[in-house]
Amino acid sequence: MRKNIVAGNWKMNKTLQEGLALATELNVALAKAKPNCEVVIGTPFIHLASVVAAIDTKKIHVAAQNCADNDSGAYTGEVSAAMIKSTGAEYVILGHSERRGYYGETSDILYDKVALALTNGLTPIFCCGEALEVRNANEQNAFVKTQLEEAVFNLSVDDFKKIVIAYEPIWAIGTGVTATTEQAQEMLAFIRSLIVRKFGKEIAENTSILYGGSCNAKNAPELFAQPDIDGGLIGGASLKVADFKAIIDAF
Ligand code: PGA
Repeated sequence: MRKNIVAGNWKMNKTLQEGLALATELNVALAKAKPNCEVVIGTPFIHLASVVAAIDTKKIHVAAQNCADNDSGAYTGEVSAAMIKSTGAEYVILGHSERRGYYGETSDILYDKVALALTNGLTPIFCCGEALEVRNANEQNAFVKTQLEEAVFNLSVDDFKKIVIAYEPIWAIGTGVTATTEQAQEMLAFIRSLIVRKFGKEIAENTSILYGGSCNAKNAPELFAQPDIDGGLIGGASLKVADFKAIIDAF
């Protein structure tokens, strides 16, 4: 059975000390709780090892927000999947629209990143999602299908089984404009139908597909109640424990 997941994406926020304080506060808030979902926090690279050491990693799982598309060597400033794994992190967010848009990450690059993450035992949270122009032209399904085909549908069945998908329409990220519940459910059902066609019903039923984009404590209960929405990738609202905990409690 697929997992429900609430994953925070801190993006480029919090110094090491602030990040440790946030992670520790979340750890305390969840100490006696029994969440009905897997809780993940996606921190900047430099926080990973310290955060892992500061929390109960049976309750809170740690993600990086990116990894290199090479395994090691002369790539100044890059961080490899093996390095991430060595911190105790278990997940890596890949293909976020901010990475695609600001740092030129193409599907070819993402294919390599996904493969390296998997080889190193990390679970990729693979992001996809269209810009507003694409949505306005009603071409979102074809757009997302291409993103999936180019980066993850060529994986072997065994590898595909290990990934998590996050649909994040760019127009909903950080804007306060959430996709309507219908729009989110419709797209996630569409993605699942593509997985059925490519890998079969059983794999599709077991793939966790998340919604992201201005997800908050208010809209999470309705979003998470949809049959194809298995959780959320949460940006802004993951930076405050009370908000993030309320989203976790939406399951
Ligand atoms: P947001 O970001 O929740 O702040 O809209 C989501 C994301 O980019 O993952």
